[in-house]
Amino acid sequence: MAKILENKALGEGFYLLAAEEKNRAQKGQFYMLRAWEHYPVLSRPISVYDADGETVRFLYKVVGQGTEIFASLRAGEEIALDGPHGNGFPKLPDKKRIALVGGGVGIAPLYLAGKSYKKENPVCTVDIYLGFSGQPVLTDEFEAAADHLSVNVGGFVTDDIDPCAYDAILACGPTIMMKVLYEKCVKTGTDAPLYVSMENRMACGIGACLVCTCKTAHGRKKVCKDGPVFLGSEVFGIE
Ligand SMILES: Cc1cc2nc3c(=O)[nH]c(=O)nc-3n(C[C@H](O)[C@H](O)[C@H](O)COP(=O)(O)OP(=O)(O)OC[C@H]3O[C@@H](n4cnc5c(N)ncnc54)[C@H](O)[C@@H]3O)c2cc1C
Ligand code: FES
Repeated sequence: MAKILENKALGEGFYLLAAEEKNRAQKGQFYMLRAWEHYPVLSRPISVYDADGETVRFLYKVVGQGTEIFASLRAGEEIALDGPHGNGFPKLPDKKRIALVGGGVGIAPLYLAGKSYKKENPVCTVDIYLGFSGQPVLTDEFEAAADHLSVNVGGFVTDDIDPCAYDAILACGPTIMMKVLYEKCVKTGTDAPLYVSMENRMACGIGACLVCTCKTAHGRKKVCKDGPVFLGSEVFGIE
């Protein structure tokens, strides 16, 4: 069990939970979180927002019973963290201009991604594009992790980015947002590969139950084990 250090309401149903957890979590990975004994039956997958080896932070939005329970937790209480799981965002040592695009709670994995890309290659530029339907959250932190931060409220974050200005683009958010971004990349003819982090519903989180599979150019794949990060062309280039 991990001790909760902080569980802060940020507004618009968003919370930031920090827990004591020795870890080697990488950008784009997720944990299965649980703060109850029997019900709901399943643990809930939540992306790593930030991790420093001793603590992990999670950005989550209350949408149902599990996340409501998370929101009721207080500092000093405990939460079960199983992870980190999944293949996160790739290393991109030779990419100089990187764009991170997030919509809604899909912004969660992009903070650690921005920080990590800057650390891995200090000469690369990282631009972060965030889309919110309501009041933006954590923009100070995202600003610190980016060379340039663009925030869209109530519109389409995919309108804000020129795919041709980048060497690699990474996205997380609603499937429709990532599909539109993929189509924009194809239409503009950018050479930049697009990586998408899929958030299919999960049960086991470890590749055992097949609940999370998605159709790809290479057959059905398990989002929890083979992903959650895939090439956009693998997932959206097949219809
Ligand atoms: C790899 C991965 C990473 C994720 N990272 C985060 C994160 O960092 N922060 C965060 O807030 N959420 C994240 N999610 C989504 C999160 O797991 C769900 O919101 C959560 O499980 C909902 O649990 P609940 O019991 O509160 O809601 P439920 O009662 O289970 O569902 C409430 C409503 O939310 C919808 N819903 C539930 N899960 C999903 C999903 N995966 N995609 C779309 N709609 C869903 C349901 O259809 C329902 O309408 C992630 C999901 C995956 C698979
Ligand atoms: S959630 Fe069980 S196989 Fe992915």
